[in-house]
Order: sequence, then structure tokens, then C-alpha cells
Amino acid sequence: MKVINIGSLNIDRTYSVKEFVRPKETIKALKYEEHCGGKGLNQTIALRKAGANVYHAGIIGHDGQMLINELKAADASTEYIKMTDGNSGHAMIQVDEKGENNIIIHGGTNDHISKEFITDVLDRFEGKDILLLQNEITNVDVAMRYAKKKGMTIIFNPSPMNDKIFQYPLELVDYFLINELEAAELAGTEKTGVDEILRQLKIKYPKAAFVMTLGGDGVWFCNQERKQFHPSFKVAVADTTGAGDTFCGYFIAGLVDELDVEMNLRRASAAAAIAVSRHGAAQSIPTKEEVETFLNK
Ligand code: RIB
Repeated sequence: MKVINIGSLNIDRTYSVKEFVRPKETIKALKYEEHCGGKGLNQTIALRKAGANVYHAGIIGHDGQMLINELKAADASTEYIKMTDGNSGHAMIQVDEKGENNIIIHGGTNDHISKEFITDVLDRFEGKDILLLQNEITNVDVAMRYAKKKGMTIIFNPSPMNDKIFQYPLELVDYFLINELEAAELAGTEKTGVDEILRQLKIKYPKAAFVMTLGGDGVWFCNQERKQFHPSFKVAVADTTGAGDTFCGYFIAGLVDELDVEMNLRRASAAAAIAVSRHGAAQSIPTKEEVETFLNK
């Protein structure tokens, strides 16, 4: 079984700051670094490090060679990455002393993903394969419809969340990978609380399964038959950027390997815990061996 991730590739411009800049304020960064990122790229690297047979499809500008190099270094396939005119997508990231982040993305060439590009890529995959999508590229809806016609499994991480998402054919999604805020918006519920959100999601999307991450408070898996919780591993936080992506990649690799849900949540949570203890996005993603060592401690 192959996984095709049609997803964003970003150059992450990361500013370490004491505290996030406030309105009308100018602050000086403590450190500036450029890393490889993008929810798409991060998730592909996590999938590959977890041992999955993953292909990344996306578009970069001529400034994006570092993104291809990063994928190649992780031994991920780059044959469906196109280079065009224009700038690659980028993210402006502030990371504060507590390791929390806030992020502004600019789509760049991630916004050049055309219908033809998507159908050309998906034509190389079969019904038994998995399509992974996030919300940082154009024509996500086209990809969902085309993949489902082929009988593929669709996994959607609706991040960053925006109104466009509700125009997508979400009823075609087999797995939603979401955080609590995304889950509440998706459920459209005024009420808060995990139980209520999951209950509403199951009513709204009865065929789907949900994996809802709660940051340091753990993760829930839920479908019509099963509800399972796993707590987070406690580690010293260096930088939370990319931790959610690490979780997603490892969890999907676990689906491919048919890991039991509880074991899968445990392994993906361990991978995310290691990622938050390191700096950067893609570069913080641990190998399968590092995750095993962490779990055996
Ligand atoms: O999830 C983290 C990622 O979000 C960063 O790498 C950044 O590029 C944005 O896409």
C-alpha cells in the first residue's frame, strides 16, 4: 500500500523570541533560522521515518531546492515535485521561551497546484492506496473527489482551518486528523468538551474516524465502534512546531502497518513528544528507532 501526500512545501523562517510580538510593538529576535517545513513536507518525512512507502506531490519555486534535499535526505520519493517560476511557500514562525509558536503562512507555489497536476499524480495510484491532504494547497476538493472515484482511502488534516473547508466534499473523508479547535469548528458545535465534540462529529460524518489531538493533554481516537484515549508523554518543550505533523505521519504509517489503535496512538504520541523536545519542524522528526528507544525507556 502506497501513501500519496499532495501537500505543502514551505521554507520556515523561524524567529526565536522571548515573548510573541504584540500589536504596535517592535521586538528584536533572539535568533533567526531557516528550516524546511510545510505541513505537507513534515508529514511526508514523518511517514517515511516511520517506515511507510510515501510519495510527496507538490510545487516549489526555484528557491526551494532545500525542500527537495530534505525529502531526499529522509529517503522520501520526490518524483512528483515540480519546480516552477514564483517563490516557494513560506512560513513566518515565532517561537517563544516556552516553545510555543505562532505561524503565518504564505502560499507561494503551494497555491499553483492545479486540477491537472492532481489528476496526473493520482493516475499513478490505485484504489488500495491512501491519499493524504492538509489545507495548505489549492484544489483540495478536486483531489478528494478524484481519489474517491478511484476507491482510495482519504485522510484529511484540515489545517490551517478556514471557511473554504466547508466547501470540500468532507463526506468523502475516511479519517480526520484534527486538534481540538479544528474538531470543534468541524463539528459546528457551540458546546465545548471532548465528548460533545466527538459525538457531533460522528453524527455529521458517520463514515469517518477521528483522531483528535489535545496537545499536552493526550489524544482521542473515535469511530462508530470504538473510542480510545492515550495520554501525552511529558517532556521538556523546546519547540512545538511540527509536532502535530509528526503525530499525523506516524499515525498514518501505523494504519498502513495495521497497528492496533492503542499501540498506534502510543507510538505516534511518543514520536510527537520527541519532536517537541527538539527545535524546528521537519528536522525535529525522530526515526522509528529513536521512537522505539524512547518507548523502551
Ligand atoms: O505544522 C507546522 C508547519 O506549519 C510549519 O512547518 C509551517 O511551514 C506551517 O505549514
